[in-house]
Amino acid sequence: MGKIGTAIAKALIKTGVKACDIAGSVRSEHGLMRAKGELPGIHVALSNEEVVKDAEVIVLAVKPRQVVDVINDVGKLLTEDKLMISVVAGLSTRILGNLTRARVIRGMPNIAILEGSGVTAVSRGPRATDTDVEFTCSLFNAVGKCYIINEEYLNAVTALSGSGPAYVAMIVEALWEAGILVGLPSDLAWSLSIDVIESGARLLNSKKPWEIISDVATPGGVTISGIKFAEERGLKGLLMGMIESAYRRSTDVQKIIEDTIEANLSKLRK
Ligand SMILES: NC(=O)c1ccc[n+]([C@@H]2O[C@H](COP(=O)([O-])OP(=O)(O)OC[C@H]3O[C@@H](n4cnc5c(N)ncnc54)[C@H](OP(=O)(O)O)[C@@H]3O)[C@@H](O)[C@H]2O)c1
Repeated sequence: MGKIGTAIAKALIKTGVKACDIAGSVRSEHGLMRAKGELPGIHVALSNEEVVKDAEVIVLAVKPRQVVDVINDVGKLLTEDKLMISVVAGLSTRILGNLTRARVIRGMPNIAILEGSGVTAVSRGPRATDTDVEFTCSLFNAVGKCYIINEEYLNAVTALSGSGPAYVAMIVEALWEAGILVGLPSDLAWSLSIDVIESGARLLNSKKPWEIISDVATPGGVTISGIKFAEERGLKGLLMGMIESAYRRSTDVQKIIEDTIEANLSKLRK
C-alpha cells in the first residue's frame, strides 16, 4: 500500500469493487494507520500472507529491490487460480512467471492515476487470459487511459509516460519561473503555466505540432523569436536525451533486478 498500490486500490473502488473486498499490506503500524485513513473500509494487514491467501487478484506494487522479500513471503501462495498484476518497474513477465504459478500481467501506470488522469500500459504475461487483460484494462481505464502493448516496449513506456509526470512538472516549474522573470506576479505565472500546458495538450488532439506552430507564429513576430532561441539551445535534443537516458536506466535496472532474482531463483521458486 505505497503510492501506486494505494492509487490502484482507489481505482478498484471507482470501478465498483466494494472497499470490504479489498485488502492491502503494509510494513509498519504507521503504514497501517495511514492506509486505513486513506481508504476507509478496506482490510489492511501487516502480513502479506494474510492478504494474499484468499485473494483472487494480487497487485504487486513494491520497489524492485523489495520483490525478493515479497516472493519469499507469498510466492508459494501465488497459484494458477490467482491473477497477479505487477507494476514493478523493470521486472519482466518471464521472471514473474518463473517465480509464481499465478496468471501474470505487467502494467506501467503513472502517478496521475491518483488524480484519475493516469496513463497506463499493460502487457499480457504467462497464463493470463483475455478476461484478465480486460479486467486489468478496465481497472486502469477507471483512473485514466490504458493501452495494451507488447512487453518489448514497456521499458520505453516507463521512460516516456511512467516518468513523464516528473518531466512535465519540471517544464511547468521552468515556465512559472520564466513568467516571474518577465515580470508576472507569481500566482498568475503559476496558473498560466499549468493552463498553457493543458490547453496545448488539448489542441494536439486535433492538430499536429507544426500546424499549431504555423497558426501561432507570425512571420517576423514574437513566437518565432522564442522558437529560434529554443532551437539554438537544442531544446528538442535535450528532451529526447532525457527520455533516452531514462530508457537506458530502465533497461539497466531490469538487468540488475533480473540477475539478482535469477541468482536466487532456486530458493524462491514456487
Ligand atoms: N511512483 C510512480 O510514479 C510509479 C509509476 C509506475 C510504476 N511504479 C512502480 O510501482 C512500484 C511501487 O512504487 P511506489 O512509488 O508506489 O513506491 P512506494 O510508495 O515506496 O511503495 C512501495 C510500498 O511497498 C511497501 N513494502 C516494501 N516492502 C514490502 C514487503 N516486504 N511487504 C509488504 N510491503 C512492502 C513499502 O512499505 P514501507 O512504506 O513500509 O517501506 C511501500 O509502502 C515500484 O516498483 C515502481 O517501479 C511507480
